[in-house]
Amino acid sequence: MDARRAVNVPELESLARERLTDTAFAYLVGGSGDEHTLRWNVEAWSRIRLAPHFMVDVSAIDTTLRLLGHDLVSPIALAPTAAHRLFHPEGELETVRGAAAAEALYIQSTLATVPVSEVGAAATGPWWFQVYVQRDRGFTRELVARAESAGASALVLTVDLPVLGARDTDRRNEFGLPEGLEYANFRGLPAVADELPPERRVYNPHLDPSICWPDLEWLRSFAGVPVLVKGVLRPDDAVQALDCGADGVVVSNHGGRNLDTVPATADALAGVVTAVDGRVPVLVDGGIRRGTDVAKALMLGASAVLVGRPYVWGLTVDGAAGVKLVVDLLRTELEMAMCLLGARTLAELTENLIWD
Ligand SMILES: Cc1cc2nc3c(=O)[nH]c(=O)nc-3n(C[C@H](O)[C@H](O)[C@H](O)COP(=O)(O)O)c2cc1C
Repeated sequence: MDARRAVNVPELESLARERLTDTAFAYLVGGSGDEHTLRWNVEAWSRIRLAPHFMVDVSAIDTTLRLLGHDLVSPIALAPTAAHRLFHPEGELETVRGAAAAEALYIQSTLATVPVSEVGAAATGPWWFQVYVQRDRGFTRELVARAESAGASALVLTVDLPVLGARDTDRRNEFGLPEGLEYANFRGLPAVADELPPERRVYNPHLDPSICWPDLEWLRSFAGVPVLVKGVLRPDDAVQALDCGADGVVVSNHGGRNLDTVPATADALAGVVTAVDGRVPVLVDGGIRRGTDVAKALMLGASAVLVGRPYVWGLTVDGAAGVKLVVDLLRTELEMAMCLLGARTLAELTENLIWD
């Protein structure tokens, strides 16, 4: 099947599977442990039932929003995901083209396979840079400076990954980047060898397990752009992030890839929104596959959503056009849902439209 004939986002997953090695596909779609959270993420959105208003003039629908200084055409953005050259020969360069074509905000991962300077040079739309703090803080600071000078207009500090979760399939497959690919932003960073056998290995050479809240203040102290915190589930952690100067929070469980049996993000969102109390934008990701999921996230108080796996399926199947297709399908479904809910603007997507 041609990617353009996919009529919804989930259909792209099987198209991507046909084009990838078993190891790359498993890395993309897998979760940790028994993958309960991975499944719950998708299920939790579907469990929320809708309570539409009819007889509303929905002949004009407005999905625009202003987010941290950006005027965006829709609340659908691209989550940071690692190693895009596993999925397309041009890697992140192709993703950033697709994001621009779709007019979607793209958050580039620290673990990109193209250097941030090159991705920034290719960008024609807004993009943010996701930060994994390295043990070498001087290197981390220099990486952030490279991202900012390449045009990143915000930083997203991922806090939920001091170590990797128990990703059984990746360990079975001894997942690693194939010959010829590299984590391009780590050039010049000495490799840390882990001598322990796989069944005793906890730590990861590219993740600093000592990262704590003062590191957010440290990042904030030299960042020239807003800093968001990604990986918040608990309301008290959201408050802590704000106290340390966060300009936004992303409710996320890393797409079910970290600590299995943490709740679905759809279930964690409302608590964080209440704690944040409108002081900064709250974003959410995890399991968003339908326009109705986007609408529900906004009803629960999110300003915008991120999608992860879906746009990587699109990238795999049809490069930049596939990334754009995913955003377009979600945008169209969101507009359909808004028409059918009687919500003409994103602000009209309120909790009142949830059937309780
Ligand atoms: C293949 C893959 C790689 C990822 N790499 C990163 C990363 O480098 N940094 C990060 O903060 N999150 C990373 N994530 C998590 C995503 O940013 C996001 O939280 C998650 O994919 C959202 O769930 P979804 O895939 O169900 O949309 C990754 C997710 C996947 C699927």
